[in-house]
Amino acid sequence: MSEPRGQFSSKIGFLMAASGSAVGLGNIWGFPTQAASNGGGAFVLAYLVLAFLLAYPALMAELVIGRHARANIVTALDQLGERPLTKRLGRAVGYYGVLIAGLILSFYAIVAGWMLAEFGKPVAHLIGWSGAEQWLGGDSLVRNLLVCGIFTAFTVAIIAKGVEDGIEAWSTRLMPLLFIILLGLILYVLVQPGATDGLKTYLIPDFRQLADPGLLLSAMGQAFFSLSLGVGTMLIYGSYLRKDDSLPRMGAAVTLLDISIAFTAGLLILPAMYVAQHQGIAIYGDNGELLAGPGLIFQVLPSLFANMGGAGTWLSVAFFALMSIAALTSSISMLEAPVSVVTERTRLKRSGAAWSIGAVIFVISALIIANMSTLFDATVSLTTEYSQPLLGIALCLFVGWIMHRNQLLNELKAGHQDIEHSLFWKIWPFYVRIICPLLILLAFIQTLR
Ligand code: PFF
Repeated sequence: MSEPRGQFSSKIGFLMAASGSAVGLGNIWGFPTQAASNGGGAFVLAYLVLAFLLAYPALMAELVIGRHARANIVTALDQLGERPLTKRLGRAVGYYGVLIAGLILSFYAIVAGWMLAEFGKPVAHLIGWSGAEQWLGGDSLVRNLLVCGIFTAFTVAIIAKGVEDGIEAWSTRLMPLLFIILLGLILYVLVQPGATDGLKTYLIPDFRQLADPGLLLSAMGQAFFSLSLGVGTMLIYGSYLRKDDSLPRMGAAVTLLDISIAFTAGLLILPAMYVAQHQGIAIYGDNGELLAGPGLIFQVLPSLFANMGGAGTWLSVAFFALMSIAALTSSISMLEAPVSVVTERTRLKRSGAAWSIGAVIFVISALIIANMSTLFDATVSLTTEYSQPLLGIALCLFVGWIMHRNQLLNELKAGHQDIEHSLFWKIWPFYVRIICPLLILLAFIQTLR
């Protein structure tokens, strides 16, 4: 009925693809600015604890289901539930997950399009195309639609090529480039005057803020978003992993990479903000709050680069290339979730599925672009604040209560024979059944109050 299933050709291929999914705008923009506005080092600490306590176990649940079922999220959950009711429930959760993946992509592609435009600006400047430079710097509807469309088309083109030649090949090329650009930028920015003030704001903890439930919630939301949880992307990547690779090790490696890059990005973003302040650029808003949102990326940093003359143009190329690469390796994973459902459950071929789903997503992005003030924030909060944690709970419950214990243990043992002596083995199966869903629920209830 369908094309043969793809598979990652190596551990590194999986690691680059899964950490490519995890490392995105959420790490390079979201994490550092949330940390700076929420108690600095205290947020970093809360994030570390929550990432290991909640997000890593939930990531493991997705990888275990995916590799066990070797299928997309809908088919996988349908297979796990053996009775009609649990099967139906499984399919419903699966469809909801991929719908959310598509919706996340629809707003993510808008922001990623802006990054492409900002990348194009200094490039146009270097080539001497001042008309294009000006147009890209504007905020017209056509410009926003065009850059979003181009970004979505890149995403679709990679997914249309399949698991090994598309996802794996591109992630293994782009992720090392991302590390190199990030490190290069940090080294440059850290030696500029003002940088140490940024490091202080980022790292010195204000522990009073730990008592604020809002802080824990933001840290949890950030961890779920950052590890791409709940929407079937990690599940489908897990399903392409070979049986002789150890899931707990792979999951831990992805979590560690994700956290390290988020942390490292803070060493760039906060110092850059304070270097900007040192040069007289405003980094606080009217109410004394740190300009952490679009104002930071699209005003503060571009003004800083503009102040730096020739070097600034290259810095700007490097920074927005970094942002675009981070966004692209994440967006391909978002698209793979619905595409895998369609190719494995209908007769449609991969490239047909990728282009048609991409087109639908682009239409949704266009609707959001045309109604930015009402639809953008609503889509972000519906998908990331509400749906991702709820879906995370559902997937933990599927692994904990519906999957047979021996299936689960076999999946953990595959590629990891000595796991029976580890703490993970003793704790995780119980933890994912009861504690993890309860903790996510508790944190979630705080949002509703
Ligand atoms: N993890 C990505 C980031 O931090 O930017 C965002 C993301 C990717 C969310 C894939 C959801 C997803 F399925």
